[in-house]
Amino acid sequence: MSQREKALSDTAQLTVDGKSIELPVYTDTEGGRAIDVSELYSKHRYITYDPSLGSTGICRSAVTYIDGDKGVLRYRGIPIEQFDRPKPNFIEVAWMLIFGHLPTAAEMSEFRGMLTQYELLHEGLTHQMHYIPPKAPPMVVLSSMISMMACYYEEFLMPPDEQSFMMQAAELISKVRTIAAFTYRRNSGLPFIYPDPSLRYCENFLHMMFSIPYRQYEVLPEIEDALNLILILHADHEQNCSASAVRVVGSAKANLFASISAGVNALWGPLHGGANVKVMQMLESIYNGGKKPQECIEAAKDKSNPFRLYGFGHRVYKNYDPRAKILKSACDRVFAKLKTSDPLLEIARELEGLALEDPYFIERKLYPNVDFYSGIILRAMGIPTDMFTVMFAIGRLPGWIAQWKEQYDNPSTRIIRPRQIYTGAPLNDYKPVDER
Ligand code: ACO
Repeated sequence: MSQREKALSDTAQLTVDGKSIELPVYTDTEGGRAIDVSELYSKHRYITYDPSLGSTGICRSAVTYIDGDKGVLRYRGIPIEQFDRPKPNFIEVAWMLIFGHLPTAAEMSEFRGMLTQYELLHEGLTHQMHYIPPKAPPMVVLSSMISMMACYYEEFLMPPDEQSFMMQAAELISKVRTIAAFTYRRNSGLPFIYPDPSLRYCENFLHMMFSIPYRQYEVLPEIEDALNLILILHADHEQNCSASAVRVVGSAKANLFASISAGVNALWGPLHGGANVKVMQMLESIYNGGKKPQECIEAAKDKSNPFRLYGFGHRVYKNYDPRAKILKSACDRVFAKLKTSDPLLEIARELEGLALEDPYFIERKLYPNVDFYSGIILRAMGIPTDMFTVMFAIGRLPGWIAQWKEQYDNPSTRIIRPRQIYTGAPLNDYKPVDER
C-alpha cells in the first residue's frame, strides 16, 4: 500500500485501556470497508481475535469478487453467469485468472501449445504411482504426485520470471489432468491411456479416462461443454480454505508445487471440496432406502448429530450460490441432451425444496452451494464418486496458481504468521521424573 493510498483513506478510532488508537480504513473497488490492524501489535501491543478469519482480510486481491449477500461471483470483473454459454472454454478462463485479462488469440495459442507440450508425465513419475496402495483415495494420489513433480521438474524450483511462471502454470494445468485420469485408471485396474495432442483440454481428459486400447471413447460435445462449464465454475473463489492454504504455504517462499499440493489437501476436507462426495453418498443412501429426505433435514438440524446437509451453507454466501444456480439448470440441459434421467436429481430437488421451506435453513440463510448439483452432472459423465473432489481440484487449480502468483508478485508480502491468545499453564518448573 502506497503512502498516497494510505493518506486518501479514512480512519477508525479504537479505544482500549483508556488509550485511543487511530486505525486506517480502506474501501475496496466495490465499496467494501476494511479496518487496517496490521500495525496494531508492532505499535500498540494488541492483537485481534478472529479464529476462523471470518472478519479478516488476509490480502488485497484483484482476482475474484464475491458479494455473498447478493449471490454475486465475478472473475476479473466478469459475472460468472457470462461463462454459462455454449462452448465455454476453461483454458481461457484459467489464463485470465492467472494473468489478469482475457487472452488474445496469440496468447491462447501459445498457452495451448504449452499445455500440449507438457501433457505427458515423466515416466518415473508414472511408475511411482504404482507404489501407492491400490485403493488409495484419489486426493492422496493427486497431492502426492503434485508434491513429487518438484523432483522431476527442478527447473521450476528457482524463483520464477514471467515466462517460466507461464510454463510452470501450463505444466501443472496440463499434468494435473493426466495425473487425475491415470489415478482413476490405476485404481480401476485399467491400463493408462496416454494424452492425445490433437484433442482439446476437456476432450483429452475424457479420452484418457474412458478410451480403452483399440477403442477410442467418443466424446459428445454436450459432455465436453458440461465439463468445461464445471471446471470454469470451480476455477476460483477468492480466499477460501484451500486458496488460503496455498497462500500460507507460498508466503514461506515454498515453491508452487508444494503450495498447490497443500491446497489439494485442504480441498479434500468434507466441509470444503470433499462435500461433493458427501452429497452423492447422501443422495445414494436416500435412493437405496436409507434415510428419507425429511429425515436428512431433521438429522442436519439436530445439534447432537454430526450429520450436516452436505452441499448446503457457505461461509460467504448468505443467498443462493450463483454456481449452484447455473449447475442446477445445466443438469436439466445435460439430461435432455443425453436423453436420460437420474433419480438422484429428483431427490436433490426434493431435499432442496424441503430445506428452503424449513425455518432452520431460512433463519441461518443456508442455500445450496456449488457441491450440491455438481456431482449429478459428473455422474452423468461416468465419473465415479471418489473422483469428484479431484475434478474440483482440476477446476480450482488456476485459481490457486493465480492466488499464489498475486502474492508472489507483491513486494510487500510477508510470511503469514498469525498470533494467539495463550490459554496454557502459567510459568512453572520442570520436575525430574522421580519427583512427579
Ligand atoms: N447443515 C446443517 N446446518 C448447517 C449447515 C449444513 N450444511 N451449514 C451451516 N449450518 C448451521 C451451523 O451449524 C450454524 O448453526 P448455529 O448457528 O445453530 O450454530 C449455522 O448454520 C451457521 O453456520 P455458518 O457459521 O454459516 O457456517 P460456517 O461458515 O462455519 O461453515 C460450511 C460453512 C462449512 C460450508 C457449512 O455451511 C457446512 O458445513 N456445509 C456443509 C458442507 C459443505 O457443503 N461444504 C461445501 C462448502 S462450498 C465449498 O467449500 C466448495
